[in-house]
Amino acid sequence: MIAPRRFSRLRIAAFAAIERAAVLLGGRALYRRRHLSRARLHVREEWIEVPGLPSDLDGFSIAHLSDLHAGPFLGAGDLGGVIGVLTELAPDVVCWTGDFVVHGIHNVRPLQPELGKLVGARATFAVFGNHDYLHREEWRFVEAMEPAGWRFLRNDSAVLEVGGARVGFCGIEDPEEGKVVDVERAVSGLCDGDVTGRPDLIVALSHGPQAAPQFAARGAHVVLAGHSHGTQVDLPFLRDLGPAHPGLRVEVGASTLVVSRGIGVIGAPLRVGVPAEVVVLRFRPASPSVGG
Ligand SMILES: [Fe+2]
Ligand SMILES: [Fe+2]
Repeated sequence: MIAPRRFSRLRIAAFAAIERAAVLLGGRALYRRRHLSRARLHVREEWIEVPGLPSDLDGFSIAHLSDLHAGPFLGAGDLGGVIGVLTELAPDVVCWTGDFVVHGIHNVRPLQPELGKLVGARATFAVFGNHDYLHREEWRFVEAMEPAGWRFLRNDSAVLEVGGARVGFCGIEDPEEGKVVDVERAVSGLCDGDVTGRPDLIVALSHGPQAAPQFAARGAHVVLAGHSHGTQVDLPFLRDLGPAHPGLRVEVGASTLVVSRGIGVIGAPLRVGVPAEVVVLRFRPASPSVGG
């Protein structure tokens, strides 16, 4: 179990007051115009080299999206730019790393038709973030999105066959708010304590990046996370208000942790020095080492 971390009541009350004022001042339209249009949305490409990667997975692609935060500053009709990016990228798989809402699952219902278009050609996997457990209604979102082909990995795993190769995906409940957070259970269906039969590529999903070392120790090649919003406001004194941000790409043992800056915002419709983004991961075999 990973220790919980919560904001103080005072900080939550301050955020709520700023949010109400920003909504009254037209914050949602401002955020859509400044951060969610196709021209403003950032696309970050990350190449991941994996030793011994089979040729069937050379060029395999995953679009990583996170921290949608449907609510006061993002609603129905605001995802045209993101849908445009996904249409251009046509990824094999889409992975979502949580925080779909700000205040509750009711925030995301109007966006279901648009979210149904944000899927991968082969599969779509998701985990929940801390905000998604408010009122403990996240199961309603599972029921709504499964018909669109989404698969939620709640301390669980799935294997995708790509030609003659196999890609394993595992994911956990949110490290802060999940009632049971079980990395061991999440990976057990893939690794089973033995490299025999292990998928050629293992991708782990965790809303909070703090679970990366545990996944790395269990053989994940890549860990995808969100939660930090890349700091959201990258200014002195303000960048530390939100959750800890370990960096956008961090090597953790033999794994690579990729942290998304996210799509939406919380508190205020404001990003400074931190664009909303879609990350696309592309995989290739690691080059043989030179020398010796
Ligand atoms: Fe978030
Ligand atoms: Fe979060």
